[in-house]
Amino acid sequence: MKILVTGANGQLGREIARQGRGHELLLTDADTLDITNGEAVNSYFSAIKPQVVIHCAAYTNVDGAEVDLDRAFRVNVVGAQNIAAGCLEAGARMVYVSTDYVFDGEIQEPYREFDPVNPQSVYGHTKWQGEEMVRQILGRHFIVRTAWLYGDGNNFVRTMLKLAQTNDTLRVVHDQVGTPTSTVDLARAIFKLVSSNAYGTYHATCQGQCSWYEFACEIFRQSGSEVKVIPVTSEEFVRPAKRPKHSVLDNYMLRMTVGDPMREWQEALCEYLNFKSHTE
Ligand SMILES: NC(=O)c1ccc[n+]([C@@H]2O[C@H](COP(=O)([O-])OP(=O)(O)OC[C@H]3O[C@@H](n4cnc5c(N)ncnc54)[C@H](OP(=O)(O)O)[C@@H]3O)[C@@H](O)[C@H]2O)c1
Repeated sequence: MKILVTGANGQLGREIARQGRGHELLLTDADTLDITNGEAVNSYFSAIKPQVVIHCAAYTNVDGAEVDLDRAFRVNVVGAQNIAAGCLEAGARMVYVSTDYVFDGEIQEPYREFDPVNPQSVYGHTKWQGEEMVRQILGRHFIVRTAWLYGDGNNFVRTMLKLAQTNDTLRVVHDQVGTPTSTVDLARAIFKLVSSNAYGTYHATCQGQCSWYEFACEIFRQSGSEVKVIPVTSEEFVRPAKRPKHSVLDNYMLRMTVGDPMREWQEALCEYLNFKSHTE
């Protein structure tokens, strides 16, 4: 397949590039294809005519979006609109990657794909509006919501390991629960979807759930670090953007269609930490 990847230098984009080696890949970043530039996107699609677009580019700074609304909107909403319109024109299918932050996190059950959304942050709002753009413009779409993503790039695992080098004690939030998800597992699910015609909205996170505090404890347990982790509440650790308290996603539609390839979060983390220690 001729696959165009946007945001190919991001965490997910890099893993898509790695797993997609058997395909004809067109890897783009903000320099080669600025998704906010509608004209540039149009001419790129007319010239290249991709069959599939895996849209990984996004404004992902959750706290930054609270003050940089325009940029978040341009990238996450107008960008998604431009890419979906390009796909329509080129006859391409599109994967739009979205987030658990479209939910408010006020229910204790895992969210299914058709549960009502209620984003609490600018980032969550813009990702939801991006979803809606894609739904309105393009029938042949896969909207894939994931959460707590880590891979080759800046993420919670790297931040924790770095902080542990210079601190004896770390304070980590214990009242926000979700599911850490490896880009390896997410990319696998995306490739399963794009090989099918099962268009629609999907949840794709690793299995299980934990708080950020439990996630940090597991990172240090697996990496053999002695750092002490202290659980704190969201009120004690105030951030600009409100986060959902319980945003566990159920991969219901994956199970109903192409199958759910996602591993337990601890198993995926173990592979990540082993790989990291061999490569850094
Ligand atoms: N990270 C998470 O925890 C998480 C959780 C749930 C969902 N998601 C979603 O998963 C997807 C992938 O996330 P990720 O963690 O891989 O993100 P990432 O590492 O931040 O990568 C996003 C990429 O988008 C690029 N980009 C930004 N503005 C652009 C523009 N105008 N034109 C073209 N490219 C642009 C960025 O390039 P620059 O770096 O050069 O700006 C960056 O390489 C996103 O849709 C995100 O919303 C992420």
